[in-house]
Amino acid sequence: MTAASADSVRRGRFLQELGIGPVWVQRQRAVQTSPSVVPSPLPSGVPVRTPSALPPSEMPPVTMVAAPVNMKQEKAASAWDDVPVPVPVPVQAAAAAAPATTLLVAPIDDGAVAIASMSWQELDIAVANCTRCPLCRNRKQAVLGTGDPKAGWLFVGEGPGAVEDQQGEPFVGPAGKLLDSMLLALDLRRGENSYLANAVKCRPVDADGKDRPPSADESAACRPYLERQITLLKPAVIVALGKVAALSLLGGDPKIAVATLREHTHRYGSIPVVVTYHPAYLLRKPLDKAKSWRDLCLAAQAYANDGKLAV
Ligand code: URA
Repeated sequence: MTAASADSVRRGRFLQELGIGPVWVQRQRAVQTSPSVVPSPLPSGVPVRTPSALPPSEMPPVTMVAAPVNMKQEKAASAWDDVPVPVPVPVQAAAAAAPATTLLVAPIDDGAVAIASMSWQELDIAVANCTRCPLCRNRKQAVLGTGDPKAGWLFVGEGPGAVEDQQGEPFVGPAGKLLDSMLLALDLRRGENSYLANAVKCRPVDADGKDRPPSADESAACRPYLERQITLLKPAVIVALGKVAALSLLGGDPKIAVATLREHTHRYGSIPVVVTYHPAYLLRKPLDKAKSWRDLCLAAQAYANDGKLAV
């Protein structure tokens, strides 16, 4: 038996142990494709979001913006209600004075501008102290992300749940266990050539204190952190786990289904993005694991084709 086939048998056993084999048997990954057979970047009608050029309609609303992050500042003593109202700058005044139909300039998000030049350490502090949206009110702690800061693979989820909020690490609950097995099937491990992050860094809860998906406003307020993480990481490929992650990375119609976004290699700037089902969904619909495995194989192709690309 060759080393490669021994490895494949070992992985098959491992996946079966986890109850996801033989569905997760690797079928497509060995197939070498030329760039021309990688599916076209987008299904028709799905717009690309580039990191630097958001249309004004998609800029985070001014009302969500707190004062610029002051790295020397101690953790904000007060919650969202006490956040100072941003002082309007002349350019915002000009935009406000203009007729509604002729918005000349997008409002400047000073906080986002500051975030765009932060180091990992600064990001960590900024996220821990963030008050950019009301999710800061209920968090035990913010969850920036975890993994190899030079990872080739970035996996983006929705937002922390109860366990993640408690432990300060993404994907440590039941969905995280499945994600770990998905990583292993790709020969990846948490922290080894992979980085796990979320569209929002604080746990969204509903009126009953249960986990819920983040709203579009919450995702928009948090997006500068994710954008900075991507710029610092420069991953070779991004896997968007579920619709919230896909919309945060690619924009587009909030009503679009993950099923429509799957099976295409999208782009975030120059970085390939593959959309697949969120592991929490796969726990509820295990039959869709086979589709998700196909998506991961597509991502593996994109990884192999693109290599490490500069953003
Ligand atoms: N679901 C997510 O999307 N992210 C986590 O960190 C945990 C569960």
